Amino acid sequence: MIGGVHDVQMPGGAQAQAIVGLWHWLLPICVLVFVAVMIALGLALWRAPRASNDTAPDIASLSKREPKVTRVVIVAVAVSTLLLLVLLAVSVMTDRALAQLPLENALHIELTGYQWWWEARYDDPDPSRMFTTANELHVPVGRPVIVTLVGADVIHSFWVPSLAGKKDLIPGRDTTVSFRADRAGVYRGQCAEFCGYQHAKMALFVIADAPDDYARWADRQRAPAAEPSSDEARRGRALFLARSCAMCHAINGTSAQARHAPDLTHVASRMTLGAGALENTSSNREAWILDPQQFKPGTNMPPQNIAPQDLAALSAYLASLQ
Ligand code: CUA
Repeated sequence: MIGGVHDVQMPGGAQAQAIVGLWHWLLPICVLVFVAVMIALGLALWRAPRASNDTAPDIASLSKREPKVTRVVIVAVAVSTLLLLVLLAVSVMTDRALAQLPLENALHIELTGYQWWWEARYDDPDPSRMFTTANELHVPVGRPVIVTLVGADVIHSFWVPSLAGKKDLIPGRDTTVSFRADRAGVYRGQCAEFCGYQHAKMALFVIADAPDDYARWADRQRAPAAEPSSDEARRGRALFLARSCAMCHAINGTSAQARHAPDLTHVASRMTLGAGALENTSSNREAWILDPQQFKPGTNMPPQNIAPQDLAALSAYLASLQ
């Protein structure tokens, strides 16, 4: 698994902290109940009278009252009810804690789930400051984030266990999830609703940066793609725009503006390719272009028939998209 904390028990923010608090009540109570039920079952089996085929049926017990059993049942029902009420109270308190996250000055992100990748649009009151990226969110530490969840094709589910609970992305019914990262770090998320063949390879990374680092990252993302600095990279750009790449992908600052696949304006700055399928290195980018199906069968990108020197030029161009 490529990078990042992916653990409900290692909370990186207020929301996940509240959820792990709930877990600390649920786990011991449920373990206690399970052990008690198993002990009761064991006792019942151990005390059961052993009979063979020719033992006469004992119907005397039918008319006999068993005050001890009645008492045990009453106590068990009372304890169960009490424990359920405790769990109910703790759940309601957790829910209230989740709803109480202060949302002033929140960062707004619209996250769209596709089979099998994520598109993130960072909203801004000034439209010229909006930008789009894929499969990786950067958020500033200490600032609340409101993520609007949009399902583009089938139902997906947003789940970054160290930051927040799950929330589904349902086509035609936008929802929101809010969280705040209180510790810098890389938090791994995963689509948590079966959404087709490559559901397992639909990871999402949330990188919580110090506010200054976040501002620098966002400024870089807003900028159009850098002008290639070598002849080879320039040739790569020409190939990108002339071949089928530009029919699906967008690179800001060029004529490639299609939105059927991840925006590649700053692709080289990301951690992974194919929503966590591969580490984002030069050689992996080349291997992915040649045959994405080898790494993520069923993905929309077809294998590319491309001459080695053209692939090298394309690769040089993609590497320049920092
Ligand atoms: Cu998207 Cu599972």
